[in-house]
Amino acid sequence: MTDLLRRFEGFIEPSSREWQLVSQLDSAKLPRHIAVIMDGNGRWAQGRRLPRVAGHKEGSKAVRAVIETSARLGVPVLTLYAFSAENWKRPATEVGTLMNLLEEYLRKELHTLQENDISFHAIGRIHELSASVQRELRETAAATAANRGMKLVIALNYSGRLELVDAVNRLLASDRREPITEQDLSENLYTAGLPDPDLMIRTSGEMRISNFLLWQIAYSEIYVTDVLWPDFRPAHLLEAVLNFQRRERRYGGILPASVLNTR
Ligand code: FPP
Repeated sequence: MTDLLRRFEGFIEPSSREWQLVSQLDSAKLPRHIAVIMDGNGRWAQGRRLPRVAGHKEGSKAVRAVIETSARLGVPVLTLYAFSAENWKRPATEVGTLMNLLEEYLRKELHTLQENDISFHAIGRIHELSASVQRELRETAAATAANRGMKLVIALNYSGRLELVDAVNRLLASDRREPITEQDLSENLYTAGLPDPDLMIRTSGEMRISNFLLWQIAYSEIYVTDVLWPDFRPAHLLEAVLNFQRRERRYGGILPASVLNTR
């Protein structure tokens, strides 16, 4: 049994689809950071003639297994796009449900974070959220700060463009005179200190980035699946990682074999 499979003992059934997928993964080629656009909650509900908020409730249930699967795989960072700065345009009841689901998740799932050695972080304009959400976020971050396993990052009231604006304004406020470098900008983003995503997953088939981690995804591999977020299961995540491992990443260069061919 591989080391990777051993980490999944008791979590997934031996000889299940998930087990087969894990057995095909290369533990040396895992993404250092997976970012997920959890899309399709509304359509999931619509397809069942349920209110949109029912889709978000079901979507929040899907979150747990994806977090635990990523942690067991040994992925260092997982970022989930839970609420964009543009999502305030939705009806107040929908916004309220999303915020309540988040608070509920944080309260109920703290033990899952602790058991899996996961530290919790929030990115976005957090200071604009309600006092109770902010308190819950702070408490979860503080309670898990000593955990050394995966970093779970939740993007809330997040906009990639605003993140860049905030970074530039921080640099302007620092009375430096030298020209700004890529490193300066990276170090002033909400994600400072985190590796850029190697893999970005979007559910529900839309081919869009939706203002998510605009700077950080410069070289990310993008994986879009038709599965709606509430239906997204560990097997779907494992399929995405396997697909990622089969890709050829060149970062604008060419592969060593191609260099030989052009001589
Ligand atoms: C997109 O679906 C999803 C969201 C705007 C919110 C994602 C939130 C959750 C999955 C639940 C709460 C999160 C946590 C971390 C517990 P959509 O409503 O845009 O779907 P549609 O495109 O089908 O309408």
